[in-house]
Amino acid sequence: DQDPLVIFTPSGKRGRVPRGTPVLQAARKLGVDLDSVCGGRGICSKCQVTPAFGDFPKHGVHVEPQALSDWNAVEERYDRVRGLKEGRRLGCQACIEGDVVIDVPAESQVHRQVIRKRADTRALHMNPAVKLCYVEVAEPDMHEPSGDFERLSQALQAQWGIEGVTADLSLLAGLQQVLRKGGWKVTVALHRDHTGAAPRILQLWPGLHEGGIFGLAVDLGSTTIAAHLTDLDTGEVRASSGLMNPQIRFGEDLMSRVSYVMMNPGGTEEMRDAVRRALATLAAELIAEAGLAPEQVLDVVVVCNPVMHHLLLGLDPTELGQAPFALAVSEALSLPAAKLGLDTINPRARVYLLPCIAGHVGADAAAVALSEAPERSEDLALIIDVGTNAELLLGNRTRVLACSSPTGPAFEGAQISSGQRAAPGAIESVEIDPVTKEPRFRVIGCDLWSDDPGFAEATAASGVTGICGSGIIEALAEMRMAGLMDGSGLIGSAEQTGTARSRPEGRTHAYLLHDGSAEGGPVITVTQGDVRAIQLAKSALYAGARLLMDEMGVDHVDRVVLAGAFGAHISAKHAMVLGMIPDVPLEKVTSAGNAAGTGARIALCDTAARAAIEANVRRITKIETAIAPAFQAHFVAANAIPHASDPFPELRR
Ligand code: FES
Repeated sequence: DQDPLVIFTPSGKRGRVPRGTPVLQAARKLGVDLDSVCGGRGICSKCQVTPAFGDFPKHGVHVEPQALSDWNAVEERYDRVRGLKEGRRLGCQACIEGDVVIDVPAESQVHRQVIRKRADTRALHMNPAVKLCYVEVAEPDMHEPSGDFERLSQALQAQWGIEGVTADLSLLAGLQQVLRKGGWKVTVALHRDHTGAAPRILQLWPGLHEGGIFGLAVDLGSTTIAAHLTDLDTGEVRASSGLMNPQIRFGEDLMSRVSYVMMNPGGTEEMRDAVRRALATLAAELIAEAGLAPEQVLDVVVVCNPVMHHLLLGLDPTELGQAPFALAVSEALSLPAAKLGLDTINPRARVYLLPCIAGHVGADAAAVALSEAPERSEDLALIIDVGTNAELLLGNRTRVLACSSPTGPAFEGAQISSGQRAAPGAIESVEIDPVTKEPRFRVIGCDLWSDDPGFAEATAASGVTGICGSGIIEALAEMRMAGLMDGSGLIGSAEQTGTARSRPEGRTHAYLLHDGSAEGGPVITVTQGDVRAIQLAKSALYAGARLLMDEMGVDHVDRVVLAGAFGAHISAKHAMVLGMIPDVPLEKVTSAGNAAGTGARIALCDTAARAAIEANVRRITKIETAIAPAFQAHFVAANAIPHASDPFPELRR
């Protein structure tokens, strides 16, 4: 009489186990990923499995319904079991009585894959740094004196095989009370990451904690701070929000913040405190929105550029303002939340900062690399994260290069005469009729074009207020295509262009996009100064890309990925008409959305991803644009629209 054969799906792992073996035990023996918080006591209902009866020719095994021990009896014994779905059984209670095929549903797997976001087919792998373990601790005994913490450690070792746990003083301060309140049964939130550091107890709850544990994925930008409050069990984002980076009052862009530090003693601390307060406020808002307790937020991942990285940590960023752009520290960091003034979440929560790639290419670029994985790409991908500074990655399976390029804030609508941030009322799309030279446009917050009936009514609330980054790019590209501007970027006169919309402005000309003066609104023109500002930004971007291509020894790339909020809105065609990006077939230009934010979420949910990006960052070749002699030549050649010498064959098609 052979031992019963058990086959787990979807892993396909199989083996024979003695009759009467609980499914959870069989799963562990066979290396099957089956979750458990209570350690098999039948109270957490994390270990649910579905007995898959019937013929399974794939495995060649026919199983009988009796193959698992009777569930009803178990149910009576464990009346605390909740959330057991129809047809499922508790893996820790159901025992294997005969040959059986057992399906482990996705939500019962610790390391499950979850969809990153709608319309994104790539999955997020769950392997968080913090996990819950329920333990039953031996009561104190006068004859065997030992501390409560030591008995808790012994229980973790005996019941979970976890050795050498540590805890800080603030946890020890509440330990005795929690143990007694829980009747010596407690749930431990345990932090174990990829570094091999001793497991650390972050939080204790009396009895079985069923409220879940959460983490924050933070994209700390120089303009905005965005955070996603994420369930560390399911990967689900429970609340998202953003706010303006309060450091803006010290300087609009990064270099002006570095200058502020250089000119104002105590400037580092001022900006450090401002950003920390903002982060704490944002966390508190998200926690309130999701209806959680601060103690439940136990892990934080922050991605940011090098200057923001240093200012958050309270490190002087002066060296980042000048060659050779030395970082105080470039490796990934893990710190307690309390050290970063994050007093609105669990003070023992860990904060993980991704590594910086180089002095100008930060943890945000590392997060983009984590999200877009150029090192796994078969074809040569150019990934551009467009913000105040553009960060570029070029690579494939063999090699990945990175640089940053000083595009300045023009792509965000700054330094543009009618420029504004992307907000309702801002022109975001432009078309210019090549014959009549008449424009039509759309504004953020309204789907209608400006010449559609009802446009005025539909935009009455916001009005037409200015032009945002994607709008100015489209306007310039359309002006070039309509012959309103030549290849050097010079706007023609009314005589040259044949339209009265081209008006003199000083010694140059400006193109009238919208005259709202009759309704008391602004007159929106594209001036020669606007063209120059965008030319400088796009030349810097293109020169950075070319520098990476030179280093790679190629004269074209296979695909272009535009990341960042701006990248999500930019029109590939218009960007290429301007020569912002190298020539590729238009269908090979894709948007990755907020890839840095996605990278932060991946690192939050998966410690293996943290290990992977730390190793990858060490392998990425950093190219310093500021000191590369070829950069200037590429920059000058890229000033023309689209380019002085590089052919743009795809544009001609
Ligand atoms: Fe907790 Fe089965 S492991 S109910």
